[in-house]
Amino acid sequence: MTVSSAPGKVYLFGEHAVVYGEPAVPCAIERRATVSVEPREDDRIRVEARDLSLDGFTVEYSGATDGHPDVNVPTPLVEAAMGYIDAAVEQALDAADSREVGFDITVESDIPLGAGLGSSAAVVVAGIDAATRALGVDLDAEEIADRAYRAEYEVQDGQASRADTFCSAMGGAVRVEGDDCRTLDAPNLPFVVGFDGGAGDTGALVAGVRELKERYEFAADTVETIGDIVREGERLLADADPADAPDDELLAELGNLMDFNHGLLEALGVSSRSLDNMVWGARMAGADGAKLTGAGGGGCIVALDPTPETETGLRFTPGCEDVFRAELATEGVRVEAERAVDFRGEREDA
Ligand code: MEV
Repeated sequence: MTVSSAPGKVYLFGEHAVVYGEPAVPCAIERRATVSVEPREDDRIRVEARDLSLDGFTVEYSGATDGHPDVNVPTPLVEAAMGYIDAAVEQALDAADSREVGFDITVESDIPLGAGLGSSAAVVVAGIDAATRALGVDLDAEEIADRAYRAEYEVQDGQASRADTFCSAMGGAVRVEGDDCRTLDAPNLPFVVGFDGGAGDTGALVAGVRELKERYEFAADTVETIGDIVREGERLLADADPADAPDDELLAELGNLMDFNHGLLEALGVSSRSLDNMVWGARMAGADGAKLTGAGGGGCIVALDPTPETETGLRFTPGCEDVFRAELATEGVRVEAERAVDFRGEREDA
C-alpha cells in the first residue's frame, strides 16, 4: 500500500481574479487529504472515501466509481469528488506509461468538500503522488502540481487556475500568475477559519464571474483591482521577515487588503449571506481582516487574528458551524508509506 497526503489551503488574496491571469496568494494549511493506493490484479478502480468531513459533513462511500453512494451530502459533490479521483488515476497511469493497472483507493480527508479549502486539489495531488509511487515512478512536487492542474482543468471544464494545485503540492505560501508559479517566503500568519457547513459550486461561480466580466467593464475593472490588491499584499509580505511572527502593523495592513478583497468578491456575486455574516462576525470580534476563501457561494471564510477573540466571536455568529485556527503547512505533498509494485505485480518495499 502506498499512502500520500497533501494539504488544503486558504486564499490570503486573489481567488477568481487568478482565473483571468491576475496574481493570487494562497497559503497551505495543516488540514490534509490522505490517499492510500493498492494496485489490483485487474484494471478496475475501487474507491472508498472516509470522513471527507468537518463536523456535520460526512461522506461514506464504498464501491466502484460508477456506483451510487449512500451519502448525506449533495450527490453532485460526491460525483465531483469521484471525478477528481478518476482524473488523478488517469494522470498517474500516463506518468507511469501504463494502461493496464487498476487500484483500490482509500481517501481520508479533514478538509470539507467544496468549501473553499482546496479539498479537490489536495485529493488530486495526494492521489497522483500515491498512484505514481505505487507504480514505481517518483515525480517531483512541481510535476505533480502540473499533472494535478491538468486533472482539475479537465474535471472543471477548463475553469481552473494553477493556484490550488500548486499550493497543495508545494506547501507554504505561494504566488501564482497564469503559468508562473512560485513559492513565497512568508511569515506564519494567524489564520482563523469559519465554516458555514455548506459548499459552493466552483464551476457555476467561476462562470458567473466570467459573465459579469464580459458584460460590464466595471466588473472587468473589479477583477483587475483584485490583482492590484494582491500586488500590494505581496509587497507587504516581501518586506516582512519570514522567521518572525508578523507584527501588529503588518497584520493591520494585510487585514485591510483582505477586507477590500472580500468587498470586491461580494460585488462579483460570489459571497453569500452566511459568508458575509461570518466575515462581519470576525471583524466585530476584532480580527485584523476577513474574507471568503476559494470559490465562495458558501463554505469558509478566513480571518487574521493572533488573539482568541475571533474564534470566540465566530462561535456565536449565526450560520457559523465550525471554527478552527489554521497553521501554515510548510510541507506540501508528502509520502506517508510506500510499497511499489512493478507491473507484473511483484512488490518492493521502500
Ligand atoms: C477555487 O478554489 C479558486 C478559484 O479561483 C478557481 C481557480 O483558481 O481555479 C475560484
